[in-house]
Amino acid sequence: MTLPVQRTRTRTCARAAALGLTAALALGLAGMPAAHAGTERHHRAATLDDLAQKTGRYYGSAVDNPELADTAYADLLGTEFGATTPGNAMKWESTEPQRGVFDFTAGDEIVNYARANGLKLRGHTLLWHNQLPGWLTSGTWTPDELRSILKNHITTEVKHFKGKVFAWDVANEIMNEDGTYRESIFYKTLGPGYIADALRWAHAADPKVKLYLNDYNVEAIGPKSDAYYTLIKQLKADRVPIDGFGLQGHLALQYGFPSGLKENLQRFAALRVDVAFTELDIRMNLPSDTAKLTQQADWYRQVTDACLAVKRCVGITVWGYSDRHSWIPAVFPGEGAALPWDENLAHKPAYDAIHDALAAAAAPPHGKNG
Ligand code: XIL
Repeated sequence: MTLPVQRTRTRTCARAAALGLTAALALGLAGMPAAHAGTERHHRAATLDDLAQKTGRYYGSAVDNPELADTAYADLLGTEFGATTPGNAMKWESTEPQRGVFDFTAGDEIVNYARANGLKLRGHTLLWHNQLPGWLTSGTWTPDELRSILKNHITTEVKHFKGKVFAWDVANEIMNEDGTYRESIFYKTLGPGYIADALRWAHAADPKVKLYLNDYNVEAIGPKSDAYYTLIKQLKADRVPIDGFGLQGHLALQYGFPSGLKENLQRFAALRVDVAFTELDIRMNLPSDTAKLTQQADWYRQVTDACLAVKRCVGITVWGYSDRHSWIPAVFPGEGAALPWDENLAHKPAYDAIHDALAAAAAPPHGKNG
């Protein structure tokens, strides 16, 4: 993937502003388009990640390997965003298709794309009940065997991507809606201690990488988020390495906005873990219409504001950024239009809402906009 022109332009513009125009001219940066020369226009041209960075956060989008061939899509992702997460490339079925045989081709492709575009990378995910390879789900394992399989998988994958990802979703979707543990192969064979073990193994393989638990339907305060609150509190008390709680943020207009979102983020931050929206999208029943798109924009604004209100909310990642490439229609028939850009890569009202919310937080104090 070539370095996108627009990113260069934005960076150049920011640099010119920092240097002052004369110095910028002396450095030969005068070739930037006139539309970007004025301060006000510069602000309008700021990307979501430019604005998020001014608040000390990142704004990211997931990417799936086949999407890299859609160069318009991949280039815009590389320009507008500061972080990415592989949609599938680092999952167990992709990385260890046969027992003890690892394949990091797809993950490496995303690493290279992220590097070429200056994107931070989140690792997703080391253990999950879905997208496991057949050899693992069809086998019957003693606890000792499964422990050693899990340890080897985590250690090998974390070492491979060491220094390339800044965070890992170590355990994904380990709770049921009622706050009990999901009866995955790992839970059934190893009991709940597998979670602390997984975190310790990941930490041993890369002591610097941030380790997250990650789930959906944990945005509101309720039994499921309560279970994570209790678990993370206990892990902290037991000195198990845990750095963050990822809220996937797969919201749907028809189910209502999650109540207590900000307070929920705050209570996790108070446990001394980072929080992040890791897979945000806000779907609706199709067809979309103006009213739904307006409500969706309002929800995106509310999620952005909730993150901005909590110091330890370190960033937001949308699960793909355009309705052109979204997992929603395939998994939730009749639903979609979940992202801030439409199928033609044009901004929807949600984009402006996110941009406005970030710009308000990124603006210097005293109401000045310069
Ligand atoms: C989804 C991917 O986007 C799809 O391409 C794939 O077919 C299924 O998984 N929660 C998660 C993500 O943690 O890994 C899922 O990603 C979406 C739900």
